[in-house]
Amino acid sequence: MKTPKANNLKKTFSSLPLKWYYDEKQFQKELNKIWSHNWVYVCHESSLIDNLSYKTITISKQSILILKDKEGSFSAYLNTCKHRGSIILDNLQGKLKSNVLVCPYHQWSYNASDGSLLKTSSKPNDDFDKSKYGLKKIQLKIWNGLIFINLSSKKSFSVKKVFQYFDKTISKLDISKFELGFTWTKEVKCNWKIYWENYSECLHCPNIHPELSKLVPLYQRRLVDVKDVENWKILKKNSDPRFQGGLRKGADTWSSDGSSQGHYIKNLQEEIHTKGQIYISSWPSMFLGVYGDHIRVVRILPLLNDKIQLTAEWLFQNETLRDPKYDIKNVTDFGILVMKQDADACELNQKGVYNYNNEKGVLMPEEYIIKDFQDWLRRSIKLN
Ligand code: FES
Ligand SMILES: [Fe+2]
Repeated sequence: MKTPKANNLKKTFSSLPLKWYYDEKQFQKELNKIWSHNWVYVCHESSLIDNLSYKTITISKQSILILKDKEGSFSAYLNTCKHRGSIILDNLQGKLKSNVLVCPYHQWSYNASDGSLLKTSSKPNDDFDKSKYGLKKIQLKIWNGLIFINLSSKKSFSVKKVFQYFDKTISKLDISKFELGFTWTKEVKCNWKIYWENYSECLHCPNIHPELSKLVPLYQRRLVDVKDVENWKILKKNSDPRFQGGLRKGADTWSSDGSSQGHYIKNLQEEIHTKGQIYISSWPSMFLGVYGDHIRVVRILPLLNDKIQLTAEWLFQNETLRDPKYDIKNVTDFGILVMKQDADACELNQKGVYNYNNEKGVLMPEEYIIKDFQDWLRRSIKLN
């Protein structure tokens, strides 16, 4: 009999040199080769609902501002004044008073719609060419309501390239119609790759996430997919729910009590019931999970070689948010619990890496997504 194909790694592979998780030179290389060349997630469109609202994001020390102008068009700029380099908007988010960006240092002003320099605060000399001092525009793309930016001007946006893991059933959803219900952010003391590696396996699930592993029986088996083991077809025939995928009996969504309070994501109810959750991910900056009654988008930004900023957005269907009886804390509390558990595990991982330089860890069969991630990382560093 032909062995059914399984996801697991068929031989032993080394992980990355441990130095790569703290070395400053390696970090700078990854900023240049990866973060400056890939589409980086900013937020869901509904996070910038009003005209003139803005957000800033920081990739290491680089600040980028993303705004919605007076007509409702989105733009992204380097958040740096062309006079002598001051930051222009120094908050994570806010609202402009008018369609003008004013530098807080010497009050140069810029047109928010195109970044052009409107006025200097003193009279320039005759040889001063105003057109040369506009803000540096950054590529911005909205896909399905999700806003991405790219620091490189040469990269085009293609779903195939941007999402390394893409569950096609997600195409049934119009994510742009969803609305932001809650945001949560946390700084985690770990290298950005450690966070991704944690996200990419469930070997840690039973002991790090006892509550989640009760909700998702497959996670109790330390697996992320029914196809993660060689004999998955045989196990699938077994009546034990731990081999089936989906949520525990009676649960409908990722929430503290498993209830979705009568709300379901239209178009995907059946798929969610079978799978329990649907994920897509875009390295290096985001993953998105669809659950019974909501979507959660997680953004990862590197701050230092050993620190990231984590931001989660919970998106809901309009009628769910408008239902006065619907308690969103049931899902947000649960998501925060799981993310805090992962953050703690990542910090533990980070604390241990400094004892070694070029020594490498090792990948177990279930860590096939980490293998993909590390291959992609090595390729990206060589390519760009
Ligand atoms: S640095 Fe912005 S106006 Fe001087
Ligand atoms: Fe986890």
